[in-house]
Amino acid sequence: MANVSCGFDVLGFCLDPIGDEMIIRKTAEKGIRITKIEGQDLPLEAHNNVAGVAGLALLEAHPSAFGFEIEIIKGIKAGSGIGSSAASSAGAVFGINELLGRPFTRGELIQFAMKGEELASGTPHADNVAPVLLGGFTLVRCSKEPDVIGLPSPSELYATVLHPKIELKTSDARAVLKKNIMLEKAIQQWGNLAALVSGLYTNDYDLIGRSLVDVVIEPHRSALIPGFQELKKAATDSGALGSGISGSGPSMFALSRGEAAAIRVGESMRQAFLKYNIEFELHISKINPKGIHIISSK
Ligand code: HSE
Repeated sequence: MANVSCGFDVLGFCLDPIGDEMIIRKTAEKGIRITKIEGQDLPLEAHNNVAGVAGLALLEAHPSAFGFEIEIIKGIKAGSGIGSSAASSAGAVFGINELLGRPFTRGELIQFAMKGEELASGTPHADNVAPVLLGGFTLVRCSKEPDVIGLPSPSELYATVLHPKIELKTSDARAVLKKNIMLEKAIQQWGNLAALVSGLYTNDYDLIGRSLVDVVIEPHRSALIPGFQELKKAATDSGALGSGISGSGPSMFALSRGEAAAIRVGESMRQAFLKYNIEFELHISKINPKGIHIISSK
């Protein structure tokens, strides 16, 4: 889940119950072949698929005598705002790296996974792939030569995510953004971002809540999100620490202290969204400390 309100393109955290599964095998034939995608209609050609592009970037940096075959079981819908392209991009490079005997660290894999993000959104941002690969909260200090810092996650912090089942392409959600921002807004935004990071280190839930404010991106994107105002109000009224757009939307997230609070916030968001007659899913998640992992290997 990228951005976390005040951290556009630099802050993110890894969700627990939501994700893709991938099966990656070595093949005698060099290169990458995507043989199957379940759960969504996405391109199979490696050069047009985020997993393929990310994997090919890794193989360019570390040529291999064999190739790889990838099956993708999509658990996250593309255009949901909960990191669909990041899940597949990170999955491909993580799996290939394992089968190559781990020539790269998880941190080094970020640069390759970002190539998949570039294909999906037009910009190689790392705020989704970094938490997938490293787990927990991550801060991208620099994405050109990726410098990513893992941040602590307070143990009682829970996320509620409401995912309306409509597609909002990241590239479209980026197209509505302005190229320049007012100095006054920038000051508020970096004050909030620094305070949020401080709150994560000091387990200061109130400070985390006060810092979940986005004065730069949300004002432009909120018009693209059905129920944005009602969902924010529902989250606040039911005791969330704060709320905002999940990634580039249309999903919305709230952070709460404790699971019971996160469930209560979810119920309130559910009630507020029912009138929109848009199918949706609701996820309650602890911050996932582990990130991507091997389910089984043969
Ligand atoms: N930081 C990116 C954006 C995340 O908001 O455009 C996209 O998933």
